[in-house]
Amino acid sequence: MKWITARRRHPLAGYVVVILALALFGVGFAALAPTSDEARAQTLSAEAPSPEDVDAANGKTIFDQTCASCHNYDGSGTYDEDGNVTNGPDIREVGSASVNFQVSTGRMPSMDPENQMPRRDMVMSEQDLADLIAYYDESIRIDGAGADIPYDVPGTAPQASDFEDEDAYQAAVEEYEAEYDAYIEGADDVDMGMKLYLTNCAHCHSWSGGGGALTDGRWAPQIHESTPREIYEAMVSGPGAMPMFSDGVISPEEKQELISYVKTLQAEPDAGGIFALERVGQVAEGFIGWTIGLSLIIACAIWITAKQRAHD
Ligand code: HEC
Ligand code: HEC
Repeated sequence: MKWITARRRHPLAGYVVVILALALFGVGFAALAPTSDEARAQTLSAEAPSPEDVDAANGKTIFDQTCASCHNYDGSGTYDEDGNVTNGPDIREVGSASVNFQVSTGRMPSMDPENQMPRRDMVMSEQDLADLIAYYDESIRIDGAGADIPYDVPGTAPQASDFEDEDAYQAAVEEYEAEYDAYIEGADDVDMGMKLYLTNCAHCHSWSGGGGALTDGRWAPQIHESTPREIYEAMVSGPGAMPMFSDGVISPEEKQELISYVKTLQAEPDAGGIFALERVGQVAEGFIGWTIGLSLIIACAIWITAKQRAHD
């Protein structure tokens, strides 16, 4: 203490203290603020359903009854002699992300193979879809071709109808919301997300995500209802007239930023997107950091001037 007391009135003392306070503030703030690595790690808990929880035999029944008329029993598609698709294309190499996207957005099974399908409610239960995916992976997909389902990216929220027990449903909703928040808030580079969206997506889906017409009677739909996993799967599978944005072109981290940005677009029309309120979380933490840091600086300033006055 003596050493400090002796130098406290040195002309540079004030600056040294302020610099120290700022450094302390920076360290403290970095410790308080969630890093995207931590947030991402939290989302990696979501995994593919374990083999005991899926029934590939049921998946085969669903495939044969609802998909094979257009995609053939082995998934090789239906073609005329000239090689043009008659009812549905070959899906053996599109990957399970594509199947999950097509069925979860209600596009498949198609009602009208001549035309692009609009988004609608899924026609089967989550369990039937999981069974169908298991069958696709086991018996139709060739050598794991195409993209896998990004299980670490939040998909559809749990549906009450899939649960018999109210408590189990509530627990699943809580777990889902935590994963959702961790994924969306784990992305913290809004500028990067916006830039990626404007350069790669806006010319078809419009700057607001409202969609727009394309040629040949096709259209880029509005993307306000898509879940993070559906947005991810749309990118890695390139449905219909949409190009594919593989993980080599837009990395998983960049996709997270982009999806987080699309979520802000989704929240804007009514300012009440699903978890819009909870996004205040990071702002609140930043505010607390500022308050503590500023108080520290002010306290130091008072200390320096008070001591100087006492000695003068
Ligand atoms: C009435 C015919 C029909 C039925 C039934 C049907 N599909 Fe399709 N499917 C199509 C057509 C046509 C396309 C191409 C759509 C496009 O390009 O816009 C397609 C596209 C797909 C794709 C995307 C292929 C790609 O290259 O990106 C997948 C995956 C798929 N279907 C899976 C399924 C599954 C799974 C079922 C059963 C649940 C099913 N389909 C039922 C006609 C059908
Ligand atoms: C060339 C135009 C085009 C570009 C560029 C494009 N998309 Fe698409 N997108 C489409 C079309 C067309 C569909 C519908 C495909 C279908 O139904 O067969 C679609 C579908 C989607 C869907 C599904 C929406 C739903 O819930 O029904 C999402 C999500 C999506 N796109 C996101 C993106 C993102 C993110 C990007 C940028 C990385 C992007 N798209 C770039 C044309 C485009």
